[in-house]
Amino acid sequence: MKNLTPDCLNVKVLTLLLPILLCCSSSILAQYEQGKDYYAPSKVPDRIVLTLTETPSTTQAVTWRTSTEVAVGKGQLMIADPSPDIVGGLQEVEAKTTVLESDKSTAHYHSLTFTELQPNTQYAYRVGGDELWSEWFHFTTAGKGNAAYSFLYFGDAQNDLKSRWSRTIRGAYSKMPDADFLLHAGDLVNRANSDHEWGEWFYAGGWIYGMMPSIATPGNHEYARDPNQGRVLSNHWKPTFTLPANGPVDFKETVYFFDYHNTRFISLDSQKFLSSESGRAAQIEWLKEVLASSKMKWTILTMHHPVYSSAAGRDNEEMKELLAPLFEEYQVDLVLQGHDHAYGRGGNLPIGKKKIVMEGPVYVVSVSGPKMYVNAMEDWMQRAAANTQLYQLIRVDGNRLRYEAYMVTGELYDAFELMKKPSGKTIFKEKAPINVPERLDIPPRYKKQATEEQMKEFNKRFQQYKAKRGEDR
Ligand SMILES: [Fe+2]
Repeated sequence: MKNLTPDCLNVKVLTLLLPILLCCSSSILAQYEQGKDYYAPSKVPDRIVLTLTETPSTTQAVTWRTSTEVAVGKGQLMIADPSPDIVGGLQEVEAKTTVLESDKSTAHYHSLTFTELQPNTQYAYRVGGDELWSEWFHFTTAGKGNAAYSFLYFGDAQNDLKSRWSRTIRGAYSKMPDADFLLHAGDLVNRANSDHEWGEWFYAGGWIYGMMPSIATPGNHEYARDPNQGRVLSNHWKPTFTLPANGPVDFKETVYFFDYHNTRFISLDSQKFLSSESGRAAQIEWLKEVLASSKMKWTILTMHHPVYSSAAGRDNEEMKELLAPLFEEYQVDLVLQGHDHAYGRGGNLPIGKKKIVMEGPVYVVSVSGPKMYVNAMEDWMQRAAANTQLYQLIRVDGNRLRYEAYMVTGELYDAFELMKKPSGKTIFKEKAPINVPERLDIPPRYKKQATEEQMKEFNKRFQQYKAKRGEDR
């Protein structure tokens, strides 16, 4: 696959728009009184989140928060039953409890894993302690082999989580309430250690997290700046999520893999990959082994920073050089990313062909929250969007993978399919809705501040992008 680099025009657009980009990157929290804790912990369990383990057909992890008054956390489990007489009884598991001193409060975070479960089976569970319990939630364990499954993928949520991201996660859930899990591609919050923002993330998703397991990869905004140690993983990350701990040493619960039905899922820590030589070396060595040892039909990888950028001049050269060749060698099928606050889907594929034999992954950069950048309309893209909140539904059914990106209003914006042939080849089929024009306009707040020269550069790039497709957009 060709390794396309951004042309000098795009770099110029970046240079011209950069001051605007920077001034637009902060969250709006002005309506909240400084110092007040709007999401204080209590004895009642909250922030309840299921997460997938290395063995999702036989185990299920759950994590929740209480005030420090609750010393011991417990989970109760039974096979789900239509009768309201739900009394637990199958398992009662004691949680591991950690103390988190956040910028707002000191709380207990409890985590446990239900084990020895049956595949593809619906269970009821609740968490709490001797006094106060959560409601009973249902979850269904993973099945096995080529059985169909589906998941929801979200690019950066990051800002105004209660006010403007909640509609995304709730819309996604409403569109596909039977999805098997949620995949969050980093920058779940804006300020890594802000308890208020984590409170908003949980407010937005609410009980969905208790029913549909999550997996998450950390973004740069999950790393806090520390004057002595540089960038440090959010103090909320490990207490909040119980993720597989099968990554390299020092990357537990940020770099990991698990097999779900016929697919190997991999999370890389792109912040650590980009910020240090040792972070790159450790992850590459681990990744090679995980890709080479896979017996799965499909491989789906998530990391926050994109290999190919959807915003001007933000390509990550180390990734192009070190990761893209590995993805191609081992036929990674799909790379799900975030970070650029503009939508892009592609993989340097030939334009105009209906069926394409893949020689590498389809790359996606998406954004589910409200922070928006100017779309770079780069040559690698087959479909792009600016100023549009999106979520994605991905279904894998044996040899067929169907990807659909929806605007937050519920309309289909982008789609494609991948088919695995008996020869081992993967065939790409374009399915983007032809009656939905690409939304590429500059986000309004950039437009307001853009000079005539900047607009001229943008329009030139727009015309080039259109010409490449041979279409009138
Ligand atoms: Fe980011």
